[in-house]
Amino acid sequence: MNLIKKMLAAQAAVLALWAVSAQAATNDEIAERIKPVGEVCVQGEECKGVGAVAVAAGGGAKSPDDVINAHCGACHSAGVLGAPKIGDTAEWKKRADEQGGIDVLLSKAIAGFNAMPPKGTCATCSDDELMGAIKKMSGL
Ligand code: HEC
Repeated sequence: MNLIKKMLAAQAAVLALWAVSAQAATNDEIAERIKPVGEVCVQGEECKGVGAVAVAAGGGAKSPDDVINAHCGACHSAGVLGAPKIGDTAEWKKRADEQGGIDVLLSKAIAGFNAMPPKGTCATCSDDELMGAIKKMSGL
């Protein structure tokens, strides 16, 4: 009986450790994700990696390249899981034509479908920022 209790306690300790380390990984991930906006872009100062247009518009806006590099490229560079490839305008155009235009592609990208995650994993992206990335990737 005592032995069983000890074993259960040991298991609980392992679980607790696991939960703590999982949490730590998540915090790191979040810090990494918000870093480019919080750290690099100070209004009125030069904004590395974000176009001058974004600064003029009030700062904070993510450029298409930022969004693509941080989020979309992971799948769309190599065409992972059937994702239309960056620069393969014919494939993007086919999708746009079949589905009713680039606006429809945007709304499906926002909602997510099949292996395409909602907002392409860029939860903080505005619709405009997503559209910028889609236009840049598709060349449409
Ligand atoms: C985890 C992989 C993954 C990531 C990350 C990802 N996509 Fe996709 N995306 C896909 C896949 C797979 C498809 C094709 C799905 C299908 O046709 O079944 C797709 C399709 C699309 C389409 C076509 C929609 C349509 O109606 O045909 C758009 C637009 C799109 N992605 C935009 C984006 C944008 C913008 C980002 C970054 C913010 C992004 N994706 C990030 C996997 C991804």
